[in-house]
Amino acid sequence: MRAVQIKQYGGTETLQLVQIDTPKINADDLLIQVKSAAINPVDWKIREGYLQEFIPYTLPVTLGWDVAGIVIEIGAEVSDFKVGDEVFSRPDISRNGSYADFIAVKANEAVLKSTKLDFAQAAALPLAGITAWQCLVDVGQLQAGQRVLIHAGAGGVGHLAIQIAKAKGAIVIATASASNQALLTQLGADQAVDYTKAPLSEQIEAVDLVIDTMGGTVQDDSWALLKKGGMLVSVTQPPSEETAKEFGVTGVFVFIEPSSRILGELNALVEADKLTPLIEHRFSLEQIVEAHQQSQSGHTRGKIVIEVS
Ligand SMILES: NC(=O)c1ccc[n+]([C@@H]2O[C@H](COP(=O)([O-])OP(=O)(O)OC[C@H]3O[C@@H](n4cnc5c(N)ncnc54)[C@H](OP(=O)(O)O)[C@@H]3O)[C@@H](O)[C@H]2O)c1
Repeated sequence: MRAVQIKQYGGTETLQLVQIDTPKINADDLLIQVKSAAINPVDWKIREGYLQEFIPYTLPVTLGWDVAGIVIEIGAEVSDFKVGDEVFSRPDISRNGSYADFIAVKANEAVLKSTKLDFAQAAALPLAGITAWQCLVDVGQLQAGQRVLIHAGAGGVGHLAIQIAKAKGAIVIATASASNQALLTQLGADQAVDYTKAPLSEQIEAVDLVIDTMGGTVQDDSWALLKKGGMLVSVTQPPSEETAKEFGVTGVFVFIEPSSRILGELNALVEADKLTPLIEHRFSLEQIVEAHQQSQSGHTRGKIVIEVS
């Protein structure tokens, strides 16, 4: 089968489209024929070697940890799926990924995809959607009527977070550059904020929850935007406990795990017409370098999808 692998860490020149054996499955696995995969910033962070200490791979490894496709084989112990099922998953990041014709995933990491999603949309949802749900709902405990600030509201995580927060009845404030202000409003944000125009402290009234997808100065500037007792949830940089204490708030770092429970929640929002992934860029496996370059630009709207078959 075809797969995009890296044999060493480095720039986009390390991405190689190669022929390898179709994966063998374990008793608790599904073998999925990949229809679509999606790109996430973690893919190129792993490629560059930034996460070597955190996730030690034996190279070569196939990248990509979002998948939608068709079950073509089930492990001996699997009873919840059958051959032909249309599924989506954010599989275990320590195994070979989805930039390939086939992927083996644990059955308990996959869910039947909503029929309202095509394969590209279903591939766009798992990693970013699980992240958004976990930050807002599981960790942030977002309640109806609360004010939530979502940084990078036009990005992969942010555009889903806006929709999930609205579905939970929150008042949503989201940031993006000037060219994405209309998109934030279309996605449901109550206040669209242009982070290039003026300091956020001059544009945003106090919030209960901040979702930090940027880290650095964006995180630094977010503490003062929180109400006392509020929470900052970051997916990019562990927040300082000391600073959180100074501001009388909580800071939490989230690194997501596969979750079929959350995939079920996302499916339910899709079924209720409250969640639609936005795909702004489509590439083939042969165009993987361009796809990584797009993600590394830091200014992707919505998601980047790889159409595999
Ligand atoms: N810890 C975890 O488990 C986890 C899970 C998922 C993601 N992440 C991390 O979260 C980050 C975001 O992921 P993603 O998939 O959403 O990335 P992404 O899709 O590449 O984000 C791109 C977006 O960032 C916006 N942006 C850039 N600079 C900004 C700024 N200063 N303020 C506000 N928005 C800004 C851009 O909007 P403009 O073009 O309008 O500037 C663009 O729409 C990545 O670092 C990723 O690795 C971590």
